[in-house]
Formats: sequence, C-alpha cells, structure tokens
Amino acid sequence: MGTLEQAIEKLDVRGYLDLEIPNGIDLVEEIKKIKKEKNAVILAHYYQPAEIQDLADYLGDSLQLARAAAKTDADMIVFCGVHFMAEAAKILNPSKKVVLPDMKAGCSLADSCSAEGLRGLRELHPKAIVVSYINCDAGVKAESDIIVTSSNAETIINSLPADQEIIFAPDRNLGRYLNEVCQRKMILWDGACIVHEAFSLERIAMQMVEHPKAKLIAHPEAQEQLLNLSHFVGSTSRLLDYVVEDEATEFIVATEEGILHEMRKLAPGKTLIPAMVKDESCNCSECFYMKLSTLEKMYLCMKYELPEILMEEELRVKALASINRMLALSEKIK
Ligand code: 13P
Ligand code: SF4
Repeated sequence: MGTLEQAIEKLDVRGYLDLEIPNGIDLVEEIKKIKKEKNAVILAHYYQPAEIQDLADYLGDSLQLARAAAKTDADMIVFCGVHFMAEAAKILNPSKKVVLPDMKAGCSLADSCSAEGLRGLRELHPKAIVVSYINCDAGVKAESDIIVTSSNAETIINSLPADQEIIFAPDRNLGRYLNEVCQRKMILWDGACIVHEAFSLERIAMQMVEHPKAKLIAHPEAQEQLLNLSHFVGSTSRLLDYVVEDEATEFIVATEEGILHEMRKLAPGKTLIPAMVKDESCNCSECFYMKLSTLEKMYLCMKYELPEILMEEELRVKALASINRMLALSEKIK
C-alpha cells in the first residue's frame, strides 16, 4: 500500500483503490456520512455480502435496481453489485457519477458473449430480433433490440409475435427455460452462470429426502433437470416473495446464497436451506464476483469517487435504446 497517487496508478490492475484505512474507523458510520455529504445513493443486489445489503438505500434484483437507477436524483450512484449492473446505471444516467467498489466484479455470463460474436450470429439470422439478458456488457446491449431480466423475460417474450424469430443471449439455461414456458424456439447463445451451474442434482435430491416437507425453489439460470425438480422457479425477487407468501415453512434455495439474508429478515419463522453444490470442499453457491465488494472498498470508493464507470457516448446511446425498450415493456411488472 502507498499513496493515493500510487493507488490510482494501480487501479486498472487491482480493480479497487488499495489504500490503508485508519485503525479504529467505524466504516458503517463513515459510509453513511459520506453518502449524506455527497448526495449519494447506494444500490445493492441481493447477492451482496450481508453488511452491504444492510447499508443499501435500494436492495433488489436486476430489474428493481435498473429502475431505481433510472429514477434517482442522487449525484453519485454507488453500485454494489457487478460491473454490468453499474454499467446499466451509467447508461441510464450519463450526467451522474457511477462508482463500483471493485471493477473486477465481473460475471461469467457477461464474459461469455462479445458484441462481435453476437453481430456474427445476427448476420446468420437476418430476420431475427436479439433479446439479451441484462447480464451482458454495454457492447452486447448496443447490439441487442431488447434487454430482459429474469423478472420480466417471460412477459416481454410473450409480447412478441408468435412467428418472430428471436436470438436469445447470453444465458443458455434461462433461454431454454423461456423456450419451454413461452413455447418458443429461440436461437440460444451458449453462455452460463458458473454459480447456478454448480448445483448438484444428486446432493439436492438427498436434501429433499432429509427434508421431505421442504420446497425446492430455483433461479432460472440453473440447469434443466434442477428446474424440473423444483416446486417454484423465479428471479431473486420472486423467490423472496415466494418464501414469504407460500404456506410451506421449509425451503431449499437454489440460487446465490446472499439472498438468504433478506429471506431470513422477511420470513423469520421459516427454515431456509442453501442447496448443495457439486464441489464438497467449497461453498460454491457464492458468486465470487459479487463477494468482491467489501465495506473497506466501498468506503474508499465513496471517499475518492473511484473506480468510476465511464463510457463512450455513442455506445451508451445505442445500449440505452434496448434498455428503454425493456423498461417500457415491463412497466406493469412489480
Ligand atoms: P436477478 O436479480 O434478476 O434475479 O438476477 C440474478 C443474477 O444472477 C444477477 O447476476
Ligand atoms: Fe453473473 Fe452468475 Fe454471479 Fe449473477 S451469480 S453475477 S449471473 S456469475
């Protein structure tokens, strides 16, 4: 660790400001203080570490956070999530400063698909429209006609003409699931979420035997056999609502386990069991990228307003069109 200048020089390599924090500092209080002084808003995804979720002004799924970003009047958006989410906030708010505590907070889905690759696929299917999951970078958004999230994908796809040819990128599991529920034959990009593909069908089946009254609930980024076994499939916010509203008292939860923090708060009497993963030696239902956020990085990022999301205006405007179509087509969705 060194001076601020040295930390800024290393920012591209490290992804965050690597600076010493004075001993004894109360990070939560300091973050609250800076937030007020700078008129900042903290947006956090349900997969973030618990202490960061607790500090958020808005905690939500991808759709809720995109909407919160679209309507905020804060001067600075502190995005506690992954890069594509902070980038979407910037696309929606060009005049505002958008900061992300760690620029290395990526996403295996977003990494699987490039704008050039998607353009190539589109050339093979000139009549197709491109529907992309929000888990993609600004270049891919700019190549897409409509963006969807797991909360609104079904509604948006159902709103398109039945004979419309569609390319769906980048999640093959969500795409396959949508083909099934929407009765479509969308052409699928071959990307996947490393977290949702790590669940073990065999071990989850054992958990179901051990907890015969528990309901299995899963995110649609998970694989087909797991979804077929599930009592309910939905986005993070839908899974949360289901746990709160359903009469069952035990749930095996097959998504990133950060969501359990809010589930425990909203459904304190219910038993929540994280679904097991293939690798017995690790806790792989944690998204490594989401867990790169820490209070220390958040504090430094808010104090020095770095690292910041920056984007070329031409790219931003192209990407905005596909996000705006999503927001317009999903107005009625909670
Ligand atoms: P949602 O929050 O839209 O359910 O998406 C989950 C996810 O994987 C975000 O990266
Ligand atoms: Fe990406 Fe999967 Fe992590 Fe979500 S959970 S950010 S889809 S790697």
